[in-house]
Amino acid sequence: MPTPHTVAVIVGSLRKDSVSRKVARALEKLTPNLKFTEVEIGNLQLFNQDLEATPTPEWVSFKKQIKAADAVLFVTPEYNRGVPSPLKNAIDVGSRPYGDSAWNGKPGAVISVSPGGIGGFGANHHLRQSLVFLNVPTLSQEAYVGNAFSLFDANGDLINEATAEFLRSYGKSFSAWIEKVLAEERLAA
Ligand code: FNR
Repeated sequence: MPTPHTVAVIVGSLRKDSVSRKVARALEKLTPNLKFTEVEIGNLQLFNQDLEATPTPEWVSFKKQIKAADAVLFVTPEYNRGVPSPLKNAIDVGSRPYGDSAWNGKPGAVISVSPGGIGGFGANHHLRQSLVFLNVPTLSQEAYVGNAFSLFDANGDLINEATAEFLRSYGKSFSAWIEKVLAEERLAA
């Protein structure tokens, strides 16, 4: 068996009972060929460009974890039609200092999650805007998980078969995307 590709998972919510995290965990279970590890973002000090030369240990550790992963997956709620501030902060922390971004070239995917019907569409595209700038080749297949509170039981297990089927297929697409991007990068190296 080949070594599975590693995926740094960034959940845009700091909430303990986050439904976005439940979606991330459901995808992990349904995609056994990838190795997912959630990277903490709640401990990152607010980005301040004055600290670039003397980064906090949490900033350093965060960037190291992103750089070490083969790919990055964002699973996020929408806050006021945009990306939650802790997630934007993590993106900024990972991007600096200029020329030493942890994101550059890393294959990525975005899933937005909402208890509402629109599935966090605004946050999804707000995030994609930053990922374009950061040169994160992002899976174009869209993933908006709406009505999310109805999809899990009290244990946090996914109970909606259509969503399970969608996530299974999304996991396959993401795996193929990671393979493709990494193969192209190997060829170009
Ligand atoms: C929200 N929520 C929300 N939902 C949505 O679909 N679109 C939105 O723009 C917003 N805006 C928003 C702002 C703020 C500050 C909060 C706290 C919440 C509701 C949000 O989807 C809901 O709280 C989810 O449960 C958040 O995801 P987690 O924390 O469960 O992963």
